[in-house]
Amino acid sequence: MKGLFVTGTDTGVGKTRVAVALIHALRARGLRVAAMKPVSAGSPPGELNEDVAALLQAADVEADLCDVNPYAFADPVAPHIAAQQAGIRIDLEVVVAAYSRLAAAADVVVVEGAGGWRVPLNNRDDMADLAQRLGLPVVLVVGLRLGCLSHALLTVESITHRQLPWAGWVGNHIDPAMAFQHENVAALHARLPAPCLGVQAFEPAACSTASALQWLTLPQELAS
Ligand SMILES: Nc1ncnc2c1ncn2[C@@H]1O[C@H](COP(=O)(O)OP(=O)(O)OP(=O)(O)O)[C@@H](O)[C@H]1O
Ligand SMILES: [Mg+2]
Repeated sequence: MKGLFVTGTDTGVGKTRVAVALIHALRARGLRVAAMKPVSAGSPPGELNEDVAALLQAADVEADLCDVNPYAFADPVAPHIAAQQAGIRIDLEVVVAAYSRLAAAADVVVVEGAGGWRVPLNNRDDMADLAQRLGLPVVLVVGLRLGCLSHALLTVESITHRQLPWAGWVGNHIDPAMAFQHENVAALHARLPAPCLGVQAFEPAACSTASALQWLTLPQELAS
């Protein structure tokens, strides 16, 4: 296993939070970790995208920014629309080539998707196609809020349909006011066909190595 692909039930569910925690846990095991955000949207020209900055701060393999974040758009909109506005077509092969360079320099590459699992990238491909092209085990971040059960199950159905390897799922408490939190997490445990790597409590502070090691278990292939 050379990498992990972190996806989520939606945008804003904690993919970056979990990707950073995975990087901390992998580094604590002595692995050299590179990070990648193939497509980012929502950073003014000349400024580093917030997700890219957080991932780079956690990772320890130095890499060309063009490889870490091959497509960076200013508008915080769906990637294929941001690309269209910029007169660019997102090309999966460009991402795959960048990933290969990162993978050559690292033990593990943690790749964070954008938005949810099927967010379009161009007029033909979406994020799931990219994950499939990279062939990486998928970590699904379930943002625990009302509606997440259906989103999680639909995402799982698509991942399974594409016969992509599973790394596991993470429950992330993004809504402290969510009713029946325990019952919702139990429903995910009962229905998701992948190991649970952890459930993160609602915690406004950014993730540290110590906190990641408390709630996160690495996928089996990377744990020993
Ligand atoms: N467990 C948590 N407790 C409290 N706040 C959280 C938690 N997880 C994430 N957040 C906050 O929720 C927001 C969204 O999280 P994050 O940026 O990780 O989501 P994302 O899925 O990566 O979003 P995007 O689709 O924009 O990449 C951030 O402000 C983050 O700090
Ligand atoms: Mg993010």
